[in-house]
Amino acid sequence: MKRPSSIVILTGAGISAESGVDTFRDAGGIWSKVDYRDVATPQGFARNPRLVHDFYNQRRRGMAGVAPNAAHVALARLEHAFSGAFLLVTQNIDDLHERAGSSRLIHMHGEIGQALCSNCGNRLHWPGDMDVDTLCPACHSMGTLRPDVVWFGEMPYHLGRIERALEACDLFVSIGTSGSVYPAAGFVEEARRHGAHTVELNLEPSDGFSLFAEAEHGKATEIVPAFVERLLAGE
Ligand code: APR
Repeated sequence: MKRPSSIVILTGAGISAESGVDTFRDAGGIWSKVDYRDVATPQGFARNPRLVHDFYNQRRRGMAGVAPNAAHVALARLEHAFSGAFLLVTQNIDDLHERAGSSRLIHMHGEIGQALCSNCGNRLHWPGDMDVDTLCPACHSMGTLRPDVVWFGEMPYHLGRIERALEACDLFVSIGTSGSVYPAAGFVEEARRHGAHTVELNLEPSDGFSLFAEAEHGKATEIVPAFVERLLAGE
């Protein structure tokens, strides 16, 4: 692979799996235990906000017990060692990329550690629990706070910036995602259309496997550090 000048990386739940964060569609994954329509749609939140708050409160509490793994660390190393343009786009709402040292990072599906007030529009750092009677610290309204995460049917964040980065990149790497949710699942085609080399690093072939020019399958903590070292060595 020729040395790239501009890299875009997409990550999904698989990069956090070895840190102990559940994925969604693997055997025993989150969507095998709870119906996404009840906890990850605006309609579900309107129907039963307590259920949705409880779902995210449990996942938020779980963040205290997990840490970045070697794959997160390798991507932070790549960002800081690579001299060209670099953007890491994650579908994950955990903060493991930040805690590993990544900074040129976009959370396209939002962040579990943030709250959004539907009354005043403020976004607030929110490490603790949230419920239907929680007051918004900014506008003091009750019952207007929700997790600042993008639910099914809602528009992911920063798509314009992501689109521009995909158009300009010459290397697109997809890590730990099943390639089953758009628009993220379409990023590989966008990158290819603009001439990028495309690589999938995943435990097993994803839904979009055939769209990638190159693929390596294995555990993220093993194949991602090795990939980064080869890339930085100019191989
Ligand atoms: N190393 C590498 N890949 C792994 C590992 C691992 N240790 N463990 C699992 N994987 C892979 C699985 O093979 C699977 O392809 O990670 C992928 C996880 O897929 P999903 O559970 O579907 O998660 P993701 O692709 O991030 O889901 C996308 O769907 O529900 C929505 O908003 C949610 O952001 C999420 C989006």
